[in-house]
Amino acid sequence: MKGLILSGGRGTRLRPLTHTSAKQLIPVANRPVLFFGLEAMHRAGIAEVGIVVGDTHADIESAVGNGSQWGLHVEYIHQEAPLGLAHAVLCAEEYLGDEPFVMYLGDNLILGGITNFVHHFLTHRPSSLILLAHVRNPQQFGVAELDASGRVTRLVEKPKQPKSDLALVGVYLFDHSIFDACKAIRPSGRNELEITDAIQHLIEHGLRVDAHLVEGWWKDTGRLEDMLEANRMILDSLEPAMHGHVDEVSDIHGKVIIESGARIARSTLRGPLIIGENTEIFDSFIGPFTAIGSGCRVEGSEIEHSIVLSDSSILHVGSRIEDSLIGRNACIVKSNGRPSAYRVMVGDHSRVEIR
Ligand code: G1P
Repeated sequence: MKGLILSGGRGTRLRPLTHTSAKQLIPVANRPVLFFGLEAMHRAGIAEVGIVVGDTHADIESAVGNGSQWGLHVEYIHQEAPLGLAHAVLCAEEYLGDEPFVMYLGDNLILGGITNFVHHFLTHRPSSLILLAHVRNPQQFGVAELDASGRVTRLVEKPKQPKSDLALVGVYLFDHSIFDACKAIRPSGRNELEITDAIQHLIEHGLRVDAHLVEGWWKDTGRLEDMLEANRMILDSLEPAMHGHVDEVSDIHGKVIIESGARIARSTLRGPLIIGENTEIFDSFIGPFTAIGSGCRVEGSEIEHSIVLSDSSILHVGSRIEDSLIGRNACIVKSNGRPSAYRVMVGDHSRVEIR
């Protein structure tokens, strides 16, 4: 069985960070989302993985390389434009050949991994195995309808009036029959070839589509709130570790990971949280569910429930920062000059909320 990870897409819901980086490389708990998928593939016994890339291919290729750090052999497949998940499958047809494969959306996170699903597929050999999860906002997903015996009867992409609350999770297992289905369907209203429609095509042609309910935690990290939730879940699942230096007057509570070269002085750290390599935290409070990347500086400030990417500074900010996603090399600073005013240089599609 091969793996196919989709990492094209423009990530418009995570602008401005996605103006300069692929959305799959935005970190949760200081690791790019995409890496969790690669790890899940390896744990499920998959060795050959194709990554479908688009405009952001250079970033993805330089972060993942040939996959050897996960024990994988990774190849890249170019998708000229984000024309849908079924289009991505067709781009990968030559790479996949006749082998069954697991397709994993590069911005999805499944805490329990995919090993059980791969095992089910290989044992029972349906044409497709889809994963479903109960969600509060089914309109934003592909939605499945099941009959009384639990068989999938219909799949609809982002229905206005969903008939169930069962969303399609971004992990799918297929045999080669999916290629004909992807060729048979027409683009949707958003002008994409939808994988949901291709699987519906399999059902209509009498092919067997099994469904599994995902019981553990799952998230499509497409929006800020989802990134913060993913960050919470992953931080909570990690073991504490201390590789940096903490002075005697600092207080550390709960699950805290401090990576090598990090220095903490006169500060309070309330986990779960992670402080990246060579980051300095002085006279500050870092609250629960916060991931601070490497090479950052936080001085005289308070921050919680946030993600800060590498090489950023937060200096003497008077009020607590929360629910925030701060990009690379960003600087948030309170200065004492007059007149007192907000001075900002924020990127396109940024959002600054002042309360
Ligand atoms: C895609 C699929 C959708 C699925 C979702 C899971 O949505 O089209 O059926 O439920 O991924 O993350 P998109 O991210 O393209 O809006």
